[in-house]
Amino acid sequence: MHKQNIAREFSRAAAGYDQAAVLQREIAGRLLAGSPHLSGRVVDMGCGTGYVSRHLPDGLQVLALDIAQGMLQQARHLASADAYVNADAEALPLQEGCADAVVSSLAVQWCHHPARMFAEVWRVLRPGGWLCLTTLGPRTLWELRAAWAAVDQEEHVNRFASLACWQQAAGHGWVNQHWQARDSVALYDSARQVMRDLKQLGASHTDAAEVHRGRALAGRQRLQALEHAYEQVCSGEALTVTYDVFYAYLQKPCNPL
Ligand SMILES: C[S@@+](CC[C@H](N)C(=O)[O-])C[C@H]1O[C@@H](n2cnc3c(N)ncnc32)[C@H](O)[C@@H]1O
Repeated sequence: MHKQNIAREFSRAAAGYDQAAVLQREIAGRLLAGSPHLSGRVVDMGCGTGYVSRHLPDGLQVLALDIAQGMLQQARHLASADAYVNADAEALPLQEGCADAVVSSLAVQWCHHPARMFAEVWRVLRPGGWLCLTTLGPRTLWELRAAWAAVDQEEHVNRFASLACWQQAAGHGWVNQHWQARDSVALYDSARQVMRDLKQLGASHTDAAEVHRGRALAGRQRLQALEHAYEQVCSGEALTVTYDVFYAYLQKPCNPL
């Protein structure tokens, strides 16, 4: 998806994001709980409405950065950080070695070239600085993918890279690398509510969705078929939404080559 569209969709979602972001808060909390001791200047990359920024330990200088202006406005409104920058994680407008840490929760899966993002983070980190991030793996939203597959042949759900792909993109220079995969699962009463929340999170948008919007194909009947299929996919009492989450902690060496 074009960066412009990503920014636009997340800006649109900004006002309602926090209401739907229950799993996102749980994941961010787990990321921070597992983080090494952070001090000094910290960049919250893909800050969204600023949840991570607001939950960093006291005494840090926090820069909240996001590609979506609407998200940044919301983060600023909630007094999340010390400074705010509208920028792309793949082209950070920050000086070399200026950050003691970069934290990022559920944002980098939107990067087109993860290796470029890792290179940018490496550049802005001081020697010994940490990158702490979460991102999504291939089984994310498997229920929705399976439900759509029962409705039509098109690609409606974003594809997420494997842990091995993320590790390869990160490169070999880091020390104290720690990667972990862990599912987070939300329970829902109805498929309609699942769809509403995903929309509110800005997470349901794909290139295919863009095309469908143009063709006005996502009509009521289609949605009903999807909801029915979702209920078939989750045959238990409650409907599930699975996030396949990768947690990564990577330290730039104190004496990088
Ligand atoms: C799912 S939200 C997560 C927000 C926040 N980190 C949280 O945990 O609640 C993803 C955020 O990443 C931002 N984002 C997506 N691609 C980005 C990029 N290339 N550079 C910076 N931010 C990006 C989006 O605008 C959105 O605010």
